[in-house]
Amino acid sequence: EGEVYRYYADGEWRVSASGKSVAIVNPTTRLTQYRVQACTQEEVNKVMETAKVAQKAWARTPLWKRAELLHKAAAILKEHKTPIAECLVKEIAKPAKDAISEVVRSGDLVSYTAEEGVRILGEGKLLVSDSFPGNERNKYCLSSKVPLGVVLAIPPFNYPVNLAVSKIGPALIAGNALVLKPPTQGAVAALHMVHCFHLAGFPKGLINCVTGKGSEIGDFLTMHPGVNCISFTGGDTGIAISKKAGMVPLQMELGGKDACVVLEDADLDLVAANIVKGGFSYSGQRCTAVKVVLIMESVADIVVEKVKAKLAKLTVGPPEADSDITPVVTESSANFIEGLVMDAKEKGATFCQEYRREGNLIWPLLLDHVRPDMRIAWEEPFGPVLPVIRINSVEEGIHHCNASNFGLQGCVFTKDINKAIMISDAMETGTVQINSAPARGPDHFPFQGLKDSGIGSQGITNSINMMTKVKSTVINLP
Ligand code: G3H
Repeated sequence: EGEVYRYYADGEWRVSASGKSVAIVNPTTRLTQYRVQACTQEEVNKVMETAKVAQKAWARTPLWKRAELLHKAAAILKEHKTPIAECLVKEIAKPAKDAISEVVRSGDLVSYTAEEGVRILGEGKLLVSDSFPGNERNKYCLSSKVPLGVVLAIPPFNYPVNLAVSKIGPALIAGNALVLKPPTQGAVAALHMVHCFHLAGFPKGLINCVTGKGSEIGDFLTMHPGVNCISFTGGDTGIAISKKAGMVPLQMELGGKDACVVLEDADLDLVAANIVKGGFSYSGQRCTAVKVVLIMESVADIVVEKVKAKLAKLTVGPPEADSDITPVVTESSANFIEGLVMDAKEKGATFCQEYRREGNLIWPLLLDHVRPDMRIAWEEPFGPVLPVIRINSVEEGIHHCNASNFGLQGCVFTKDINKAIMISDAMETGTVQINSAPARGPDHFPFQGLKDSGIGSQGITNSINMMTKVKSTVINLP
């Protein structure tokens, strides 16, 4: 404590004129771990201006040079994986090994983005006029992809580095400038990541990172006329942003209630392993976590027993010790999770373990015999608590999935590929995984949510395309 991390604007590390800072509370110790600048609206205005100027020059920088800088940043990021991961451990209680993986995965993502960018942006289209009725072959249309301008990137606390670079990489390779507003928990890890881009030598003003209170600069950023695209990952705030944002392309990923549908013929050991990994890794704080198990009654007892046995083996404790289950990000998050658990208790769910909580640390909990009148059947706990709903038909399972407001991913376990495809087609989600837990990666796969889970599609290729617009020049021959 004491030191306040600076924000990054116009290629320099700066102290805000506000004289104020925002505290980042360590979820494990519940003490202030770091402080970041509380930027002002004026500072945001300044950042938008410089980003706009820098973008114009960047768009004229050859694509191969842009790619080269991104490769450089990726390498520097990987070199700095240890100090960045340490911030993730302290700010968001990510288990030590997962924290390292997040940074390495981010470096790989940036390199892949550079590769993909030179390929897809290096290609344009030529159209000729005589395919449309009434036209001669006297018009040649040349079209290519050009940048949007300034991209505002708002990643969530659970991947402050990876879900930042999944926006920054595509934005930059496509010729955009970038304004990053990191989540409060995870802001220091994000600032370290930005420093890697700084060391790579990107032009001044092209990449900026403003920190501060959502109440002060949140709406101001998202409604700023200087913003030409918003890429947001997070919770309900995204719905509010989409209502307030101007006429700019939006990319949104707002969580999910990913169902795991288990049929009678499934490999039950595989099911149990994926329920534990899918439901409890990073203590369930992933938008793609398994958030409800919909299981055929005839195999439910066996699977519940297998999952119980595996949960008993998970280590629960501090992220520094690389525990499987670590404290959830904030006290209010822990309180919310507890509220869902208590509601399920009152309404008669079966507790497979005793409910236990110390501070922000919640022990893994499987709730069996959950019914649709319980909140946890529909709401996402974002914690290590997983409901099991027993079903008597596949249709019942699909009905539950599709009655959700969310539609991010889902998964189905069966050895019958025809049934699996039928269920995938019937599930109203952006992705369905067959015989594995939901996951965003590999990071070049398309990633999208339907309904309240999001707008647009991510994944490296889709994000690059989304952060561009088509520009045409038509040659008219006499
Ligand atoms: O929390 C949302 C992330 O996009 C999930 O990513 O599936 O790699 O954990 P993941």
